Amino acid sequence: MSPTLLAAALAGETTERPPVWMMRQAGRYMPEYRELRQRLSFLELCDDGDLCAEVTMQPLRRYNFDAGIVFSDILIILQRMGLDLSFGKGHGPAIANPVRSMADIQALREVDAVRDLPAPLKALRILKEIAPVPVLGFAGAPFTLACYAVEGGGSRDWVRTKRLMWEQPAAFQALLDRLADAVGDLLQAQVEAGAAGVQLFDTWAGALPVEDLRRFALPAAARALSRVKGAPTLYFTRDSGPFMPWLHEAGASAIGLDWRVDVAHARSVLGPDVPVQGNLDPIALFAPAEELVRKTRAIIQAAGPRGFVFNLGHGIVPETPMDAVEVVVEAVRAWRWTG
Ligand code: CP3
Repeated sequence: MSPTLLAAALAGETTERPPVWMMRQAGRYMPEYRELRQRLSFLELCDDGDLCAEVTMQPLRRYNFDAGIVFSDILIILQRMGLDLSFGKGHGPAIANPVRSMADIQALREVDAVRDLPAPLKALRILKEIAPVPVLGFAGAPFTLACYAVEGGGSRDWVRTKRLMWEQPAAFQALLDRLADAVGDLLQAQVEAGAAGVQLFDTWAGALPVEDLRRFALPAAARALSRVKGAPTLYFTRDSGPFMPWLHEAGASAIGLDWRVDVAHARSVLGPDVPVQGNLDPIALFAPAEELVRKTRAIIQAAGPRGFVFNLGHGIVPETPMDAVEVVVEAVRAWRWTG
């Protein structure tokens, strides 16, 4: 059954078909989510544990996913550390008081997940009772959170972040350490609240040269993940194709792949014992159904029967047609490795 399918794949076992879920499977492509958002801001939603559970359930009611992911956002923890986070219409997150110096870093508040981030923990406890499938927890990886904290929002080139990293490496390291401890605490609290596993999103680590990936991003991810006991851990990075030989340094039990990388190639570099997750291009959900099914099957075929979780290579975009999600879910569920 479904719960064991996700657990088995994340444990590196052979499954008759891969389990399937999608990054950002809850969100603006669904009318029931947009309806809630007319009444509440995104941050208000993220602060209400009952509503986080409800939004996590929305895609699980509509589709036959084999896993859920608790509804929240990677940036909420920065708000709890004292950063003034907002989400403007159409232009993503912004932080009004970004971190630019050692003094700023030392002024960050200590975060205790149980005290400061109760909503996703409450949601996980509710979902443990009501969700039909296992539900994952998650957090942003220290490097990716540092990018937003230093830059004050999204960026194409992350110039301020890289400048702080190279001009004041001790300060940048202190920031990563603070973030790693807070994130590790949050991940472990999610496991204790019932998460079937946790995913660390290192979206922007792909902006780094390998040297700095190994000096900053991977050890910080490992520091966070070392706090997680008793559940599988996934490490996801965008643009990580060239990073395969080193990703194990994050210390996760499984690797999430973005859509650019060939799954068979990734597996050949990572080694046959590393469970992987991925990696359909989320924009393929706009392709004709036949092409979408062909691409879905090609990924499963290339991944092989052992230790594989089907997912997108990044999050669903808001314009995604809802029928396409069902086409993919059903194509994965129809797959059989053995008779
Ligand atoms: O996957 C899920 O369904 C769980 C919930 C989830 C959200 N964000 C909800 C969300 C998860 C796992 C995330 C992760 C996240 N958030 C990442 C890492 C993964 C990635 O996408 O690279 C990052 C970088 C963020 C930061 C963030 N949050 C951005 C850049 C934005 C704006 C994006 C946009 O399209 O406007 C958000 C907002 C956000 N997070 C929304 C949702 C559903 C949209 C909020 C809204 O309703 O307006």
